[in-house]
Amino acid sequence: MAQNELPMNLRDDNVSEETKTLISSLPREQDSQGKLCKFQGCWYYYNTLQAVINFQTNFKPQDTDIILASFPKSGTTWLKALSVAILERYKQPTDDHPIHPLLSDNPHGIVPFFEIDMYLKTSTPDLTKFSTSSPRLFSTHMPLHTVKEGLKDSPCKVVYLCRNVKDALISRWYFRCKYQKSEVARSNLESMFESFCSGVSFYGLFWDHALSYWRGSLENPKHVLFLKYEELKTEPCVQVKKLAEFLGCPFTKEEEESGLVIKILELCSIRNLSGLDVNKTGKTWMNVDYNSYFRKGEVGDWKNLLTPEMENKIDMIIEKLKGSDFKF
Ligand code: A3P
Repeated sequence: MAQNELPMNLRDDNVSEETKTLISSLPREQDSQGKLCKFQGCWYYYNTLQAVINFQTNFKPQDTDIILASFPKSGTTWLKALSVAILERYKQPTDDHPIHPLLSDNPHGIVPFFEIDMYLKTSTPDLTKFSTSSPRLFSTHMPLHTVKEGLKDSPCKVVYLCRNVKDALISRWYFRCKYQKSEVARSNLESMFESFCSGVSFYGLFWDHALSYWRGSLENPKHVLFLKYEELKTEPCVQVKKLAEFLGCPFTKEEEESGLVIKILELCSIRNLSGLDVNKTGKTWMNVDYNSYFRKGEVGDWKNLLTPEMENKIDMIIEKLKGSDFKF
């Protein structure tokens, strides 16, 4: 695909001379979408690496900032919606904001990504344009050690949403198919699977990514909360209450008794969000249709696409990781 047909984060046309020198010293690979390099253990397209460096160098954290983190296609949209709904519940409509933000914008429009939105075009974005909420909410797909460099020693809170690796892989596959000529893309599921398992793909190895946050959550549970997509599905009230507590705004008894937790879950359900006009017709600034962030939202959809051999290969990798303290 030609460079200018790709979203800006996958391209290599916005890299400073300094970053070019850095890249020349890093491990490099090429995939069907562009040139990748390995920085701090994670693979990025060059423009995204520039954004990561811009973030690490220039971001000025505030102690109250909240960072929502995930591996791509792990339910980031859902986590953003739930966090916005939890924090917005205190606010009354105003003339400037007469309706709930989730009814007038997509969660990705409300909670920007550091390296995909804010720092991709410029090293010094005007943050007041990006995050109007208080506390400020940001998001990222970078692994924790890379995020930490940008957060310096700020005590701001980080929430990580982890999803079953097979579902995250298949979700990524469908997302990519939408933006490629699907027949060509489908014939390449196998090659995408191989690069996903080897880790030479955008944002690197799934396992390393999840482990960086898992360990961070054990080391400093007040700083990092580790949530699982599947648990949000099976025990939504428990998990949303946990999230609210971690964000420093637990539900009161009265709020719980009034059914507020259920209302928030309903507002943020995939059925409700995907049916909103803004999500049916809107696009991100990089021209990604908002509706592509909502597909099935189910657990176990991988069973419809992964072959038994692929399933075995992932299971064997997971088996090898059993020595670590995290269960996938
Ligand atoms: P599927 O492709 O398996 O359906 P991300 O938000 O990180 O890009 O992840 C997208 C995945 O999360 C998609 O998974 C999408 O359907 C699912 N998703 C989006 N909004 C959701 C919601 N409100 N509840 C549950 N799942 C949701």
